[in-house]
Amino acid sequence: MNSKFLKSGHIKLYKRENSNYWQMKIKLPRQKSLRSSTGTKILKDAEKIALKYYSSLIKKNNINFKKSQPVFKKIHLVETADLNKKEIEYILNESKKYIKFNKSKIKKINILEGRTIFNLFFEDSTRTRTSFEVAAKRLGADIINVSVRDSSINKGETLLDTMTTINSMNPDILIVRHPEEGISKKISSIVEASVINAGDGSHEHPTQALLDALTIKNKFKKFSKLKIAICGDILHSRVARSNIIILSKLGAKINVIGPKEWLPKNIKKFPVNIFTEMKKGLYNCDVVMMLRIQKERIVGKIMPNQKSYFKKYGLDYNKLKYAKKNAFVMHPGPMNRGFEIDSKLADDVTRSLIQEQVAMGVAIRMACLEIIINNRDRFIND
Ligand code: NCD
Repeated sequence: MNSKFLKSGHIKLYKRENSNYWQMKIKLPRQKSLRSSTGTKILKDAEKIALKYYSSLIKKNNINFKKSQPVFKKIHLVETADLNKKEIEYILNESKKYIKFNKSKIKKINILEGRTIFNLFFEDSTRTRTSFEVAAKRLGADIINVSVRDSSINKGETLLDTMTTINSMNPDILIVRHPEEGISKKISSIVEASVINAGDGSHEHPTQALLDALTIKNKFKKFSKLKIAICGDILHSRVARSNIIILSKLGAKINVIGPKEWLPKNIKKFPVNIFTEMKKGLYNCDVVMMLRIQKERIVGKIMPNQKSYFKKYGLDYNKLKYAKKNAFVMHPGPMNRGFEIDSKLADDVTRSLIQEQVAMGVAIRMACLEIIINNRDRFIND
């Protein structure tokens, strides 16, 4: 016998033509194969050596490699409206392993080695762009940042031309942030790469809502008895829209609170209770999610005066008392401190989950990148 397979083909023991020593080839899922001599001519010993080496590699990578059948089978993530409860729960569960991984000393695993990801940001962002970049790098992918300032958009090239150009470089995933609603969906229909919507105008921001759900899940375990208030500039907020969809699908009750002019006309179509007063809307809530006032989208309309807005809708310790005793505060960032949220409350780690949201963002995005690449491998690449 000149070769033998172990561990369902992950380990191959073989002999070279001109040698009596057993060689081992170890292939961990989605990683490069490792080849080495076992240093022995005896098959039984070679098996033991290879198995030991194999388990040390698995341990070192600190990851459960078992690929279960995915519940989320799509290759794009553009709208939360496309996700059902099972798919949302699947993504949340898949990110669990990365919460632990991100706290470990060596935060690198090469399961996406050789994959190319573009961060295409046509709107300002620090948090989301970096979060995707960290996620991609920790999984070993190559990530290229394209921001509006150095893109050809300024040279008159149309967005779709830019996409076609980038598509010709054979990327695996395009992460797109853009002020136009529905643009990610459009792009996903013209490129071969997968598209993740990182915010399209006031429309959707799926990974933000997923990371918010993960943050809430870590605190409360279940969504079924939760009452969550989403407060402020609901009209212009993609975060609000995606969160309403995701959190209600998970079983939470949602109160939206904001000035009348900042409640979308079609708000009644959503599964929410509507309030224009903080006192009433916060009653009995477990979580208070504040939104940034989207100054860049409030053009041609009157911006409220900061002082009077804060008095009515800004969250401080006093207004937080209207909610449940130990209610938590969230905000997707960036914050307008002193406008929609009191600065001290935002930094109070006993009440505020804002830093936790950032940490969960990396875990969620790692899971989304991994799931989407796996789906591409399963369903479109042979
Ligand atoms: C949000 C966004 O860009 O939609 N922020 C984020 O993703 N970190 C919220 C906002 O900008 O208000």
